[in-house]
Amino acid sequence: MADLSTKYMGLELSSPVVVGSSSLANSVEGVKKLEDAGAAAVVLKSLFEEQIFAETEEMGEYSHTLYDSEAAEFVEAYGREFGPRDYLKLIQDAKKACSIPIIASLNCFSQKWWVNYAKKIEAAGADALELNIGVMPSNPKLTSEEVESLYLAVVKDIKKEVNIPVALKIGPYFSSFANLALTLSRGRVSHRDFIVGWCGNPAPSEKKEGWNGVDALVLFNRYYQLDIDIDKMELVAGNPYSTSNEIHESLRWISLLSGKVDCDLAATTGIHTGADAVKQLLAGADVVQLCSTLYKNGLDQIKTVKQEIEDWMGANGFNSVADFRGKLSQKKSEFPTAHERLQYIKLFVGIE
Ligand SMILES: Cc1cc2nc3c(=O)[nH]c(=O)nc-3n(C[C@H](O)[C@H](O)[C@H](O)COP(=O)(O)O)c2cc1C
Repeated sequence: MADLSTKYMGLELSSPVVVGSSSLANSVEGVKKLEDAGAAAVVLKSLFEEQIFAETEEMGEYSHTLYDSEAAEFVEAYGREFGPRDYLKLIQDAKKACSIPIIASLNCFSQKWWVNYAKKIEAAGADALELNIGVMPSNPKLTSEEVESLYLAVVKDIKKEVNIPVALKIGPYFSSFANLALTLSRGRVSHRDFIVGWCGNPAPSEKKEGWNGVDALVLFNRYYQLDIDIDKMELVAGNPYSTSNEIHESLRWISLLSGKVDCDLAATTGIHTGADAVKQLLAGADVVQLCSTLYKNGLDQIKTVKQEIEDWMGANGFNSVADFRGKLSQKKSEFPTAHERLQYIKLFVGIE
């Protein structure tokens, strides 16, 4: 029988099939169901900064500066209903009820709150923490460097204060993503380190400036999809669920970064089937995160995806995930410079 066991951020997992953060994991019963369905680890629903604020006296003033009054009321009510105290209890109860690793998730946007809650989450017993940072770079006064420095500052602050592994879930919208990913994984690096590390020579492993990079990058956040209702002429939410067609952005970057950054890689967005999971593992992902497919097909899809990975491994003569992980990463490519370019040229020039 194929061995699906794997390691992610130092955690021993029975397989690379993890359940990504969603409302499926916002209660102990939900998390237990995911474990029973075969998840190797579960990322809890995120605790949002708005929920943290709702439990503080500053909430009224805060929410009304960010939202119109209807939205502010909604945010306050939501935060009161399920606030940070409940979240910490969810971590404690899920740890008691389950034996798989429980990864907490924190979604904040102002620097002030991250460290405080990361420490509380660690104390509550979470096995790891996933940070969801999504700064929409819509402010024209901010340069790309300033936007990136927000991410680096959060990682630096949290990694100084907590000992559990920390993953960072981010979007793809950066102008030099390879540089940022390497820096996030390693702490700040000099230009020379960057060149040496990237060109395939042994990368210097000592951390610069006394701070550590993230333990994993989760690629990529699927941002809220904006749509417009043309009859009502209103902004509306687009489809919350992905399809397999959305796998390509993370597949590209996992394959480009695998073996080159100093952290693990988790793939998210568009992983619906065993075939999708195998693609990400071949590209170099340490784990895949399932979400939309569970909403669309039910929790049994976790077992189906695992079975399909096993079947594929059997058909291709692989005994363990380590035997083929990263086989199609740029690092292992025979012609690294032509890694992707060749497929592009073939497609557009029509040579098969
Ligand atoms: C209903 C729903 C709720 C979600 N809630 C969260 C959340 O609280 N925190 C988070 O980081 N991601 C959240 N996500 C995003 C998923 O974790 C995942 O990254 C995204 O859906 C892309 O993966 P998929 O293509 O497998 O759905 C949510 C997604 C859905 C569909």
